[in-house]
Amino acid sequence: MTGQQRTDRHGIAIIGAGMIGAAHAFGYRMHLPRFRRQLDLQLSTICDARAEAAGTLAATYGFESTATDWRAVMADDRIRIVSVALPNFVHAEVVAAALQARKHVLCEKPLALSAASARALCDQAKASGVVAGTVFNYRRVPAIAEIVKLVKSGEIGPPIHFVIQYQCEYGADPNLPHSWRDVREKAGGGALVDLGTHAIDIARLICGDISEVLGAAAATVITRRYLPMSATAGHDHGALSSEQRPVDTDDVTSAMLVFDNGCHGMFLTSRVAVGLGSTLSFALSGTRGTVRYTSAAPGEYQIARMGGSHTGTFSIVPNRPTSPYAHDYLPVPHDGVPVGYAESFGFMIAEFLGSIASGAPFEGSLEDGLKAAEALEAVQRSVEQRRPVALSEIGKTAPVA
Ligand SMILES: NC(=O)c1ccc[n+]([C@@H]2O[C@H](COP(=O)([O-])OP(=O)(O)OC[C@H]3O[C@@H](n4cnc5c(N)ncnc54)[C@H](O)[C@@H]3O)[C@@H](O)[C@H]2O)c1
Repeated sequence: MTGQQRTDRHGIAIIGAGMIGAAHAFGYRMHLPRFRRQLDLQLSTICDARAEAAGTLAATYGFESTATDWRAVMADDRIRIVSVALPNFVHAEVVAAALQARKHVLCEKPLALSAASARALCDQAKASGVVAGTVFNYRRVPAIAEIVKLVKSGEIGPPIHFVIQYQCEYGADPNLPHSWRDVREKAGGGALVDLGTHAIDIARLICGDISEVLGAAAATVITRRYLPMSATAGHDHGALSSEQRPVDTDDVTSAMLVFDNGCHGMFLTSRVAVGLGSTLSFALSGTRGTVRYTSAAPGEYQIARMGGSHTGTFSIVPNRPTSPYAHDYLPVPHDGVPVGYAESFGFMIAEFLGSIASGAPFEGSLEDGLKAAEALEAVQRSVEQRRPVALSEIGKTAPVA
């Protein structure tokens, strides 16, 4: 199925036209022309249960048609590439259907509501022969990709200690309407799953696999929210009804992680961090240096090396024309030109299309989605049972849809 010919029509469908479906549409629209010589790519269908949302997104980015039932997308043989941008509880069913229909599939994080369910999808994908991936767009921020290379090259020595935080403001306002994100059986978790999935993926990419969660704590600060008067997307505000519903997902979670290589560190995620907008930041100390990054300054990273006259100071390393992704995809890849969130999304979609065209493995695979799900489940178990949880414990229950 991979490494296909120009003559094969590859219709693209995005299922879910909410906040992040738009980021997928933007990515395909930006990068599709790069692959026109290898693949006959068409922006085919936007599918959403809300017909109006599907129509607006299709019109904005030039998709040919709309649908309201994702099963119609699966039944359409002209559609060969599917992005799944639906609420978390629908992911596993739709990805399984896409694999069954032998369509290349890129699924939003979290891949599934449980590690067992994510593992079932990985097993199914192995037999399908299609390109299947989990959305981990932060991997494609040039400064982060450069840090990954740097740490792997041994530049700062073996990792000793790692601190990573993904803190957002979107849930801090008690007038944010109640949504599927506030319901454990629909979201799988709150800040931990929504934001922590990204932080866990970056932690794994830089430090390697996580072996144990030594301890964790979580809290829900806003325990009830008002229902919206009409459907809202993403973190949109809107008119509220007078009816409230409980929130049973976490607003903040902290955990202490141990990695296979002996490095340990702190992980923190919040959706009620006033003033922090959407801020992913981390610092890794190795035996010979420290690297650090914050999405507040997305066009650079900082490094301090032991020894010489610079001990105790950080150097700023701006994006360069040679930086990963900047080199391949940016029109102006020169020193320090910042890279935004939507661009990192586009880089990921370019790599996804590239893997379909060439047959090369796609980084940010379903296995990466599974590994993140295992770590998140270990954190949740550690919170609930107030004890250390080894990752080897996870995933021994039956798959959950
Ligand atoms: N990668 C990232 O940085 C990032 C950022 C935000 C959200 N996400 C993920 O993207 C996914 C979607 O989040 P969102 O904020 O866009 O949600 P959203 O609520 O804004 O949009 C979801 C859309 O799915 C539609 N929908 C729901 N059930 C459907 C069904 N059965 N069939 C067809 N349409 C259906 C809704 O009408 C809505 O338009 C989530 O899994 C979330 O975790 C990822």
